[in-house]
Amino acid sequence: NKVVLAYSGGLDTSVIVPWLRENYGCDVVCFTADVGQGIKELDGLEKKAKASGASQLVVQDLKEEFVKDYIFPCLRAGAIYERKYLLGTSMARPVIAKAMVDVAKEVGADAVAHGCTGKGNDQVRFELTFFALNPKLNVVAPWREWDITGREDAIEYAKKHNVPVPVTKKSIYSRDGNLWHLSHEGDILEDPENEPKKDMFMLTVDPEDAPNEPEYVEIGIVSGTPVSVNGKELSPASLLDHLNQIGGKHGIGRVDMVENRLVGMKSRGVYETPGGTILFAAAQELESLTLDRETMQVKDSLALKYAELVYAGRWFDPLRESLDSFMEEISKTTTGSVTLKLYKGSVTVTSRKSPYSLYRQDISSFESGDIYDQADAAGFIRLYGLPIRVRAMLDA
Ligand code: ARG
Ligand code: SIN
Repeated sequence: NKVVLAYSGGLDTSVIVPWLRENYGCDVVCFTADVGQGIKELDGLEKKAKASGASQLVVQDLKEEFVKDYIFPCLRAGAIYERKYLLGTSMARPVIAKAMVDVAKEVGADAVAHGCTGKGNDQVRFELTFFALNPKLNVVAPWREWDITGREDAIEYAKKHNVPVPVTKKSIYSRDGNLWHLSHEGDILEDPENEPKKDMFMLTVDPEDAPNEPEYVEIGIVSGTPVSVNGKELSPASLLDHLNQIGGKHGIGRVDMVENRLVGMKSRGVYETPGGTILFAAAQELESLTLDRETMQVKDSLALKYAELVYAGRWFDPLRESLDSFMEEISKTTTGSVTLKLYKGSVTVTSRKSPYSLYRQDISSFESGDIYDQADAAGFIRLYGLPIRVRAMLDA
Protein backbone atom coordinates (compact mmCIF):
# COMPACT_ATOMS: atom_id res chain seq x y z
CA ASN A 1 0.00 0.00 0.00
CA LYS A 2 0.86 3.60 -0.60
CA VAL A 3 0.29 6.90 1.15
CA VAL A 4 0.39 10.48 -0.11
CA LEU A 5 1.88 12.80 2.52
CA ALA A 6 1.42 16.58 2.65
CA TYR A 7 5.12 17.45 2.78
CA SER A 8 6.92 20.72 3.48
CA GLY A 9 10.50 19.55 3.95
CA GLY A 10 10.63 20.78 7.54
CA LEU A 11 11.66 18.61 10.45
CA ASP A 12 8.17 17.34 11.28
CA THR A 13 7.20 16.12 7.84
CA SER A 14 10.73 14.75 7.29
CA VAL A 15 10.29 12.54 10.32
CA ILE A 16 6.81 11.46 9.27
CA VAL A 17 8.23 9.74 6.17
CA PRO A 18 10.26 7.05 8.01
CA TRP A 19 7.57 6.85 10.68
CA LEU A 20 4.92 5.94 8.09
CA ARG A 21 7.20 3.33 6.54
CA GLU A 22 8.01 1.83 9.94
CA ASN A 23 4.49 1.84 11.34
CA TYR A 24 2.37 1.22 8.26
CA GLY A 25 4.91 -0.52 6.05
CA CYS A 26 3.82 1.64 3.17
CA ASP A 27 5.40 3.37 0.23
CA VAL A 28 5.43 7.13 0.86
CA VAL A 29 4.74 9.64 -1.92
CA CYS A 30 5.47 13.18 -0.76
CA PHE A 31 3.31 15.99 -2.06
CA THR A 32 4.15 19.68 -1.92
CA ALA A 33 1.73 22.34 -3.09
CA ASP A 34 3.02 25.70 -4.14
CA VAL A 35 0.41 28.11 -2.79
CA GLY A 36 2.83 31.02 -2.72
CA GLN A 37 4.55 30.20 0.56
CA GLY A 38 7.92 30.82 -1.07
CA ILE A 39 9.41 27.43 -1.85
CA LYS A 40 13.15 27.99 -2.11
CA GLU A 41 14.71 25.27 -4.20
CA LEU A 42 12.69 22.48 -5.71
CA ASP A 43 15.77 20.39 -6.49
CA GLY A 44 16.81 20.35 -2.89
CA LEU A 45 13.28 19.52 -1.78
CA GLU A 46 13.14 16.39 -3.93
CA LYS A 47 16.55 15.21 -2.70
CA LYS A 48 15.43 15.82 0.86
CA ALA A 49 12.19 13.88 0.43
CA LYS A 50 14.04 10.93 -1.07
CA ALA A 51 16.72 11.05 1.62
CA SER A 52 13.92 10.74 4.16
CA GLY A 53 12.76 7.59 2.42
CA ALA A 54 10.03 8.80 0.09
CA SER A 55 9.68 7.02 -3.24
CA GLN A 56 8.93 10.28 -5.00
CA LEU A 57 8.06 13.93 -4.55
CA VAL A 58 5.17 15.46 -6.46
CA VAL A 59 5.10 19.27 -6.61
CA GLN A 60 2.19 21.22 -8.02
CA ASP A 61 1.85 24.94 -8.59
CA LEU A 62 -1.64 25.73 -7.26
CA LYS A 63 -1.22 29.51 -7.00
CA GLU A 64 -3.64 30.63 -9.71
CA GLU A 65 -6.25 28.04 -8.72
CA PHE A 66 -5.89 29.01 -5.07
CA VAL A 67 -6.45 32.71 -5.70
CA LYS A 68 -9.14 32.34 -8.37
CA ASP A 69 -11.26 29.54 -6.90
CA TYR A 70 -10.72 29.93 -3.16
CA ILE A 71 -9.49 33.40 -2.21
CA PHE A 72 -11.58 35.48 -4.61
CA PRO A 73 -14.87 33.74 -3.73
CA CYS A 74 -14.21 34.44 -0.03
CA LEU A 75 -13.43 38.05 -0.88
CA ARG A 76 -16.63 38.34 -2.91
CA ALA A 77 -18.54 36.84 0.02
CA GLY A 78 -16.94 39.28 2.46
CA ALA A 79 -15.91 36.34 4.62
CA ILE A 80 -14.15 37.40 7.82
CA TYR A 81 -13.91 35.14 10.87
CA GLU A 82 -14.53 36.63 14.29
CA ARG A 83 -14.36 40.23 13.08
CA LYS A 84 -10.71 40.12 12.05
CA TYR A 85 -9.33 36.94 10.49
CA LEU A 86 -9.16 36.94 6.69
CA LEU A 87 -8.96 33.12 6.63
CA GLY A 88 -5.59 32.71 4.90
CA THR A 89 -4.79 29.26 6.24
CA SER A 90 -8.41 28.11 6.19
CA MET A 91 -8.69 28.71 2.44
CA ALA A 92 -5.38 27.00 1.63
CA ARG A 93 -6.14 23.65 3.27
CA PRO A 94 -8.96 22.57 0.93
CA VAL A 95 -7.01 23.43 -2.24
CA ILE A 96 -4.02 21.40 -0.99
CA ALA A 97 -6.15 18.50 0.23
CA LYS A 98 -8.07 18.38 -3.04
CA ALA A 99 -4.82 18.11 -4.98
CA MET A 100 -3.70 15.30 -2.65
CA VAL A 101 -6.86 13.35 -3.42
CA ASP A 102 -6.09 13.69 -7.14
CA VAL A 103 -2.45 12.65 -6.65
CA ALA A 104 -3.56 9.66 -4.58
CA LYS A 105 -5.68 8.54 -7.51
CA GLU A 106 -2.86 9.04 -10.01
CA VAL A 107 -0.25 7.10 -8.05
CA GLY A 108 -2.70 4.47 -6.82
CA ALA A 109 -2.47 5.34 -3.13
CA ASP A 110 -5.08 4.13 -0.65
CA ALA A 111 -4.19 6.60 2.08
CA VAL A 112 -3.29 10.22 2.75
CA ALA A 113 -1.34 11.72 5.64
CA HIS A 114 -0.71 15.17 7.08
CA GLY A 115 1.51 16.70 9.73
CA CYS A 116 -1.10 18.74 11.59
CA THR A 117 -1.28 18.46 15.34
CA GLY A 118 -4.32 17.05 17.10
CA LYS A 119 -5.03 20.41 18.75
CA GLY A 120 -5.70 22.60 15.75
CA ASN A 121 -8.06 23.52 12.96
CA ASP A 122 -5.87 22.33 10.11
CA GLN A 123 -6.39 18.61 10.78
CA VAL A 124 -10.14 19.18 10.45
CA ARG A 125 -9.80 21.11 7.19
CA PHE A 126 -7.60 18.46 5.57
CA GLU A 127 -9.74 15.58 6.67
CA LEU A 128 -13.16 17.05 5.85
CA THR A 129 -11.83 17.68 2.33
CA PHE A 130 -10.56 14.09 2.07
CA PHE A 131 -13.96 12.83 3.29
CA ALA A 132 -15.87 14.99 0.82
CA LEU A 133 -13.80 14.10 -2.24
CA ASN A 134 -12.93 10.46 -1.58
CA PRO A 135 -14.47 8.84 1.50
CA LYS A 136 -12.60 5.59 0.78
CA LEU A 137 -9.15 7.04 1.50
CA ASN A 138 -7.57 6.12 4.81
CA VAL A 139 -6.29 9.09 6.76
CA VAL A 140 -3.14 8.99 8.88
CA ALA A 141 -2.36 11.81 11.30
CA PRO A 142 0.95 10.86 12.98
CA TRP A 143 0.79 13.69 15.53
CA ARG A 144 -2.29 12.05 17.03
CA GLU A 145 -0.61 8.66 17.22
CA TRP A 146 3.09 8.81 17.87
CA ASP A 147 4.97 9.52 21.07
CA ILE A 148 7.45 11.99 19.62
CA THR A 149 6.82 14.97 21.86
CA GLY A 150 9.26 17.68 20.97
CA ARG A 151 11.93 18.90 18.63
CA GLU A 152 14.71 16.96 20.41
CA ASP A 153 12.67 13.78 20.17
CA ALA A 154 12.08 14.33 16.49
CA ILE A 155 15.77 14.95 15.78
CA GLU A 156 16.68 11.79 17.66
CA TYR A 157 14.12 9.78 15.70
CA ALA A 158 15.46 11.21 12.45
CA LYS A 159 19.06 10.29 13.35
CA LYS A 160 18.08 6.78 14.36
CA HIS A 161 16.46 6.30 10.96
CA ASN A 162 19.32 7.89 9.02
CA VAL A 163 17.16 10.77 7.91
CA PRO A 164 19.12 13.96 7.40
CA VAL A 165 17.90 16.58 9.84
CA PRO A 166 16.86 19.67 7.87
CA VAL A 167 19.56 22.30 8.31
CA THR A 168 17.12 25.20 8.18
CA LYS A 169 16.86 26.61 11.66
CA LYS A 170 13.35 26.15 12.88
CA SER A 171 11.68 29.39 13.80
CA ILE A 172 10.36 29.70 17.32
CA TYR A 173 6.92 30.50 15.91
CA SER A 174 4.45 28.17 14.27
CA ARG A 175 3.95 29.80 10.91
CA ASP A 176 1.84 29.16 7.86
CA GLY A 177 2.26 31.19 4.71
CA ASN A 178 0.74 31.47 1.27
CA LEU A 179 -0.03 34.12 -1.31
CA TRP A 180 -2.77 35.60 0.87
CA HIS A 181 -1.17 35.70 4.30
CA LEU A 182 1.41 34.65 6.82
CA SER A 183 0.28 33.48 10.24
CA HIS A 184 2.29 33.48 13.46
CA GLU A 185 1.38 31.47 16.55
CA GLY A 186 3.21 30.09 19.57
CA ASP A 187 6.20 31.15 21.69
CA ILE A 188 5.72 34.58 23.32
CA LEU A 189 2.42 35.03 21.47
CA GLU A 190 0.88 32.33 23.67
CA ASP A 191 0.51 34.97 26.37
CA PRO A 192 -2.13 37.35 25.00
CA GLU A 193 -0.65 40.17 27.08
CA ASN A 194 2.59 40.14 25.06
CA GLU A 195 3.08 42.53 22.20
CA PRO A 196 4.59 40.79 19.14
CA LYS A 197 8.30 41.42 18.59
CA LYS A 198 9.19 43.75 15.77
CA ASP A 199 11.39 41.18 14.02
CA MET A 200 8.61 38.55 13.85
CA PHE A 201 6.87 40.18 10.89
CA MET A 202 7.95 39.12 7.42
CA LEU A 203 5.47 40.42 4.83
CA THR A 204 4.94 43.93 6.17
CA VAL A 205 7.21 46.67 7.44
CA ASP A 206 6.39 48.20 10.78
CA PRO A 207 3.88 50.99 10.04
CA GLU A 208 6.16 53.30 12.02
CA ASP A 209 8.94 52.67 9.50
CA ALA A 210 6.73 52.92 6.40
CA PRO A 211 7.31 55.71 3.86
CA ASN A 212 6.35 59.24 4.89
CA GLU A 213 4.62 59.74 1.56
CA PRO A 214 1.22 58.08 0.99
CA GLU A 215 0.65 55.94 -2.09
CA TYR A 216 -2.56 55.75 -4.09
CA VAL A 217 -3.72 52.48 -5.61
CA GLU A 218 -6.74 51.90 -7.83
CA ILE A 219 -8.43 48.49 -7.77
CA GLY A 220 -10.64 47.44 -10.69
CA ILE A 221 -13.39 44.96 -9.83
CA VAL A 222 -15.81 43.00 -12.04
CA SER A 223 -18.76 41.26 -10.35
CA GLY A 224 -17.07 41.25 -6.96
CA THR A 225 -13.78 39.89 -8.31
CA PRO A 226 -10.61 42.01 -8.63
CA VAL A 227 -9.22 42.23 -12.16
CA SER A 228 -6.81 45.15 -12.27
CA VAL A 229 -4.43 47.38 -10.32
CA ASN A 230 -3.90 50.97 -11.46
CA GLY A 231 -5.65 50.15 -14.73
CA LYS A 232 -3.42 47.18 -15.50
CA GLU A 233 -5.15 43.81 -15.85
CA LEU A 234 -3.41 41.01 -13.99
CA SER A 235 -3.99 37.30 -13.42
CA PRO A 236 -5.41 36.50 -9.97
CA ALA A 237 -2.08 35.36 -8.49
CA SER A 238 -0.02 38.16 -9.98
CA LEU A 239 -2.59 40.77 -8.92
CA LEU A 240 -2.39 39.57 -5.33
CA ASP A 241 1.39 39.28 -5.45
CA HIS A 242 1.62 42.86 -6.71
CA LEU A 243 -0.67 44.19 -3.96
CA ASN A 244 1.32 42.29 -1.33
CA GLN A 245 4.43 44.24 -2.39
CA ILE A 246 2.64 47.58 -2.26
CA GLY A 247 0.75 46.82 0.96
CA GLY A 248 3.80 45.32 2.65
CA LYS A 249 5.83 48.43 1.95
CA HIS A 250 3.22 50.58 3.74
CA GLY A 251 2.71 48.25 6.69
CA ILE A 252 -0.84 47.31 5.70
CA GLY A 253 -2.79 44.33 7.03
CA ARG A 254 -1.44 43.33 10.43
CA VAL A 255 -3.98 41.66 12.70
CA ASP A 256 -3.43 40.50 16.27
CA MET A 257 -6.26 38.47 17.76
CA VAL A 258 -7.48 35.77 20.09
CA GLU A 259 -9.71 33.37 18.18
CA ASN A 260 -11.95 30.43 18.93
CA ARG A 261 -10.61 27.28 17.32
CA LEU A 262 -13.05 24.67 16.08
CA VAL A 263 -11.76 22.18 18.65
CA GLY A 264 -12.99 24.46 21.43
CA MET A 265 -9.89 26.22 22.73
CA LYS A 266 -8.98 29.85 22.30
CA SER A 267 -5.68 30.62 20.63
CA ARG A 268 -3.74 33.79 19.94
CA GLY A 269 -2.53 34.49 16.44
CA VAL A 270 -0.94 37.32 14.51
CA TYR A 271 -1.57 37.61 10.79
CA GLU A 272 -0.07 39.62 7.96
CA THR A 273 -2.44 40.04 5.01
CA PRO A 274 -1.20 43.10 3.08
CA GLY A 275 -2.76 42.63 -0.36
CA GLY A 276 -5.87 41.01 1.07
CA THR A 277 -6.56 43.94 3.37
CA ILE A 278 -6.40 46.32 0.41
CA LEU A 279 -8.76 44.09 -1.59
CA PHE A 280 -11.28 43.84 1.24
CA ALA A 281 -11.36 47.60 1.64
CA ALA A 282 -11.92 48.04 -2.10
CA ALA A 283 -14.59 45.35 -2.52
CA GLN A 284 -16.62 46.49 0.47
CA GLU A 285 -16.47 50.09 -0.61
CA LEU A 286 -17.75 49.29 -4.08
CA GLU A 287 -20.76 47.54 -2.54
CA SER A 288 -21.69 50.79 -0.82
CA LEU A 289 -22.54 52.10 -4.29
CA THR A 290 -24.08 48.99 -5.80
CA LEU A 291 -26.08 47.25 -3.04
CA ASP A 292 -29.24 48.58 -1.48
CA ARG A 293 -29.72 48.57 2.28
CA GLU A 294 -31.59 45.29 2.72
CA THR A 295 -29.46 43.37 0.23
CA MET A 296 -26.33 44.50 2.02
CA GLN A 297 -27.74 43.44 5.39
CA VAL A 298 -28.67 39.97 4.15
CA LYS A 299 -25.32 39.57 2.40
CA ASP A 300 -23.43 40.59 5.54
CA SER A 301 -25.40 38.18 7.71
CA LEU A 302 -24.70 35.28 5.31
CA ALA A 303 -21.04 36.29 5.12
CA LEU A 304 -20.73 35.39 8.81
CA LYS A 305 -21.96 31.86 8.13
CA TYR A 306 -19.80 31.60 5.03
CA ALA A 307 -16.70 32.54 7.03
CA GLU A 308 -17.58 30.11 9.79
CA LEU A 309 -17.90 27.25 7.29
CA VAL A 310 -14.57 28.09 5.66
CA TYR A 311 -12.85 28.36 9.03
CA ALA A 312 -14.29 25.00 10.03
CA GLY A 313 -12.96 23.25 6.94
CA ARG A 314 -16.35 22.80 5.28
CA TRP A 315 -15.32 24.12 1.88
CA PHE A 316 -16.77 21.16 -0.04
CA ASP A 317 -20.07 21.33 1.78
CA PRO A 318 -23.33 21.97 -0.11
CA LEU A 319 -24.15 24.73 2.35
CA ARG A 320 -20.97 26.68 1.49
CA GLU A 321 -21.50 26.02 -2.18
CA SER A 322 -25.10 27.25 -2.06
CA LEU A 323 -24.10 30.36 -0.16
CA ASP A 324 -21.48 30.90 -2.83
CA SER A 325 -24.15 30.84 -5.55
CA PHE A 326 -26.00 33.51 -3.61
CA MET A 327 -22.82 35.58 -3.34
CA GLU A 328 -22.17 35.24 -7.06
CA GLU A 329 -25.70 36.35 -7.94
CA ILE A 330 -25.77 39.25 -5.50
CA SER A 331 -22.37 40.48 -6.72
CA LYS A 332 -23.29 40.64 -10.41
CA THR A 333 -23.34 44.43 -10.34
CA THR A 334 -20.36 44.86 -8.02
CA THR A 335 -18.30 46.25 -10.86
CA GLY A 336 -16.24 49.41 -10.94
CA SER A 337 -13.15 50.79 -9.31
CA VAL A 338 -12.02 52.08 -5.96
CA THR A 339 -9.01 54.24 -5.19
CA LEU A 340 -7.31 53.84 -1.85
CA LYS A 341 -4.64 55.80 -0.07
CA LEU A 342 -2.04 53.72 1.79
CA TYR A 343 -0.14 55.41 4.56
CA LYS A 344 1.72 53.95 7.54
CA GLY A 345 -0.49 50.94 8.07
CA SER A 346 -3.80 52.52 7.15
CA VAL A 347 -6.01 52.12 4.11
CA THR A 348 -8.28 55.07 3.35
CA VAL A 349 -10.82 55.11 0.55
CA THR A 350 -10.56 58.27 -1.53
CA SER A 351 -12.72 57.52 -4.57
CA ARG A 352 -15.22 54.96 -5.85
CA LYS A 353 -17.16 54.59 -9.08
CA SER A 354 -19.39 52.02 -10.78
CA PRO A 355 -21.53 51.85 -13.92
CA TYR A 356 -24.13 50.14 -11.68
CA SER A 357 -23.98 52.77 -8.97
CA LEU A 358 -27.32 53.33 -7.23
CA TYR A 359 -26.06 56.64 -5.96
CA ARG A 360 -27.81 59.57 -7.64
CA GLN A 361 -26.35 62.94 -7.03
CA ASP A 362 -29.44 64.55 -8.56
CA ILE A 363 -31.54 62.88 -5.85
CA SER A 364 -29.32 63.23 -2.80
CA SER A 365 -27.96 66.69 -3.56
CA PHE A 366 -28.71 69.58 -1.24
CA GLU A 367 -29.53 71.43 -4.43
CA SER A 368 -33.15 70.67 -5.26
CA GLY A 369 -34.10 68.23 -8.01
CA ASP A 370 -37.40 66.91 -9.33
CA ILE A 371 -37.37 63.14 -8.57
CA TYR A 372 -37.48 63.62 -4.81
CA ASP A 373 -40.21 65.88 -3.50
CA GLN A 374 -39.55 67.00 0.07
CA ALA A 375 -43.28 67.29 0.71
CA ASP A 376 -43.55 63.45 0.36
CA ALA A 377 -41.40 63.07 3.47
CA ALA A 378 -44.10 64.36 5.80
CA GLY A 379 -46.56 61.55 4.98
CA PHE A 380 -43.77 58.97 4.94
CA ILE A 381 -42.62 59.93 8.43
CA ARG A 382 -46.18 59.95 9.83
CA LEU A 383 -46.83 56.38 8.61
CA TYR A 384 -43.32 55.11 9.38
CA GLY A 385 -43.76 56.51 12.88
CA LEU A 386 -47.32 55.24 13.36
CA PRO A 387 -46.36 52.44 15.80
CA ILE A 388 -44.30 54.88 17.84
CA ARG A 389 -47.19 57.34 18.01
CA VAL A 390 -49.71 54.65 18.96
CA ARG A 391 -47.52 53.40 21.79
CA ALA A 392 -46.94 56.92 23.07
CA MET A 393 -50.73 57.52 23.09
CA LEU A 394 -51.08 54.79 25.76
CA ASP A 395 -49.29 57.03 28.28
CA ALA A 396 -50.77 60.30 27.09
N1 ARG B 1 -5.24 29.99 13.43
C1 ARG B 1 -5.22 30.07 12.01
C2 ARG B 1 -6.27 29.16 11.43
O1 ARG B 1 -6.79 28.35 12.10
C3 ARG B 1 -3.84 29.79 11.47
C4 ARG B 1 -3.39 28.36 11.56
C5 ARG B 1 -1.98 28.21 11.10
N2 ARG B 1 -1.62 26.84 10.86
C6 ARG B 1 -0.37 26.36 10.98
N3 ARG B 1 -0.22 25.09 10.67
N4 ARG B 1 0.61 27.07 11.42
O2 ARG B 1 -6.61 29.24 10.27
C1 SIN C 1 -1.69 22.71 13.97
O1 SIN C 1 -2.12 22.43 15.08
O2 SIN C 1 -1.31 21.83 13.17
C2 SIN C 1 -1.59 24.16 13.56
C3 SIN C 1 -2.63 25.05 14.15
C4 SIN C 1 -4.03 24.81 13.67
O3 SIN C 1 -4.24 23.86 12.90
O4 SIN C 1 -4.95 25.54 14.06
